[in-house]
Parts: sequence; structure tokens; C-alpha cells
Amino acid sequence: MLILSIESSCDETSAAVTRGREVLSNIISTQIDEHRIYGGVVPEIASRRHCENISAVVKEAVDEAKISFSDIDAVAVTAYPGLIGALLTGVNFAKGLSLSLNKPLIAVHHLRSHIAANYLTHKDLKPPFLCLVVSGGNTVICSVKDYTDFKIIGQTLDDAAGECFDKAARAMGLDYPGGVNLDKIATVPDEKTYPLPTPKTSGGEYDFSFSGLKTAVVNLIHNQSQKGQTVDVPVLCATLRKKVCDILIDKTFKAAKDTGHTKIVLAGGVSANSELRSRMQKQCEKNGFEFYTPELKFCGDNAAMVGAQAIYEYENGNIADISLNATATMPIDIGVIK
Ligand code: KG4
Repeated sequence: MLILSIESSCDETSAAVTRGREVLSNIISTQIDEHRIYGGVVPEIASRRHCENISAVVKEAVDEAKISFSDIDAVAVTAYPGLIGALLTGVNFAKGLSLSLNKPLIAVHHLRSHIAANYLTHKDLKPPFLCLVVSGGNTVICSVKDYTDFKIIGQTLDDAAGECFDKAARAMGLDYPGGVNLDKIATVPDEKTYPLPTPKTSGGEYDFSFSGLKTAVVNLIHNQSQKGQTVDVPVLCATLRKKVCDILIDKTFKAAKDTGHTKIVLAGGVSANSELRSRMQKQCEKNGFEFYTPELKFCGDNAAMVGAQAIYEYENGNIADISLNATATMPIDIGVIK
């Protein structure tokens, strides 16, 4: 089944052609340079750029796959969660395409796609497994019972881990996307010089909270500057990175032990983090667990991962119609509006 997929949930306009777990094309037009001057994504600009870019990106995906539009069997699109204006561009384009080609329309949940990015890299990976999904807007531990059957074990009660990295990095004077740059320049952590709090949550034991950690870094920088002192940015980056990784890894492994999962999957934009990948790998080896994470090229937002999940939504009968609307929020376990 040949699927044309569209992703526009944040600041990447992407279109891909996939056949099962095989990627025929995966075009990504990023807006990072434009948002960098504002220190973060400006939703109105993101929506406008998606509108301008989407036709060309879709055409390029079809051309690069060496197919024609008439070869496509279904159209898939990220419909939730994300920036509403950005999502609407992709959803409306996909609806038009599905109508004009007279092919089924498949609405895909963004975090389910991030998890499915793993299927593109690990062709034999199958549920059940425990997944830590860490991105700029979400941090969730879920039990993937089947391809379209998810149970939330824990999630952030406020900011996502990526948001914490991005805003702390901005306070340290690093360019957007801060998480990427923080990871590049981080050296050796120093928890004595830069003590950072371990956030307590009022929710369940697998829930996260990152806003206090973000504020602690911002306050630390302000306090130092009021005293006329500067921070050692690469060391503070390493200290924050270690703290965030400690929290993510501790909760994930506790959840794995308590739920009996021995297969652990890491997904989402922050899965590109070098420390998170290597420590999770080592800890899995130590515990005799299997570990999976996508190749770096599939960690960030891209449409191939939408296609990878769409096939399972389709097989499960999750077919959308012309009434499909985008929504800014949607829990991963609900995942589909029928
Ligand atoms: O999944 P994604 O591409 O977009 C969302 O769906 O949110 O994730 C983007 C997030 C940003 O916060 C970015 O700073 C973070 O992923 N990120 C990283 C790294 N690469 C991307 N954070 C830490 N280390 C990285 N290497």
C-alpha cells in the first residue's frame, strides 16, 4: 500500500511516500532559520510558511518517489496534537488531495507517529513495548500494547523536556532550537557549582514536571548576572542535560520494571539527545532489556513516520472523512477522532 503522508504540526513542512516500513521519499522543509530570530516558534509565521510551502513539498515527495499521484493508495496527515494553524494547513491540504484522488484519508496522532519512526529504522520491531516519547511539546511514558492500542503510564504535568531544554538554553544565550545546541556544547556536569532541583510531582509516580527545573536555570543565570558573574555555559548545559536524563531514565526504568516490559523504545525530537540515547542503551544492556530508538534522521518531525503509523490506523479501520478537523490537544490513548 503506497501512502502519501503530510506533517505540519509545528515548524517543519514535510511530505513522504512510504510503502509499509519502506521510505520512498521524505521531504522536510524546515522553518528553523526564520523562527531563530524570535528565540522560538511563532505560530502565525509557522502557519503562513506551511501554506506557502506545502504544494511544492508534496510535489517533490511524489517526484522523488518516482511515482505519480494516481499510484497513491491513501493520504495520511498529522491531525493532532500541535499548533492549530499549522495543523490546519496539512489537514486541509490532505482532505483536498484525498477528495481529488478519491482515496482514503487517514488522520494520525503526532506522538503515535514519533513512536512509529522506530518502525522505519527497526523493521522487525513489534508491540508490546514500553515507550518514552520526549519532544518539544510532550513527554509521555506509555505502554504500546498494540499498534493502535496505547496506555498512558505517566506524562508531564506542565512543560515537556524539550521545552525545558529550549527555554533554559535561550536563557543561556543559545540559539533556537536550544535543545540541539545545548547538547552540542555540553561538557562535564558540575552539580556542586550548579545545584538543580529534582522536581516533585503531585500526580502519579511516573508523571513528570519540568517547569521548576526550567525556572531554576533561568533564576540561576539571573542571580549570577546580578552579582556581576557569568556562568560556565557548557558546564551548566551538561548539568541540566544530566538532570533531565536522570529524571527521564529513572521513571522509564521504574515503569518498565513495574509493568513487566523488557522492550524499551525511545522516541520524539529529544530522542536525538546524545546522553539520553547512550545512557538508555547502556541501562537496557545492564538490565537485559531490548532497546530501540530511531536513526537521527527520523527523530525530528517528518512525514515518513506519519506513513509508518498510518498503515496500522488504516488496518484498524481508522479512516477519516471530509469532516476531519485538526485539534491542538489529544491524548495518545484516544488518538483518533472517528
Ligand atoms: O519532536 P520534535 O521535533 O517536535 C515536536 O514534536 O515537539 O522535538 C523538538 C524538540 C525541541 O525541543 C528540540 O530542542 C529538541 O526536540 N531536541 C533536542 C535535541 N534534538 C532536538 N533536545 C536535546 N538534545 C538534542 N540533541
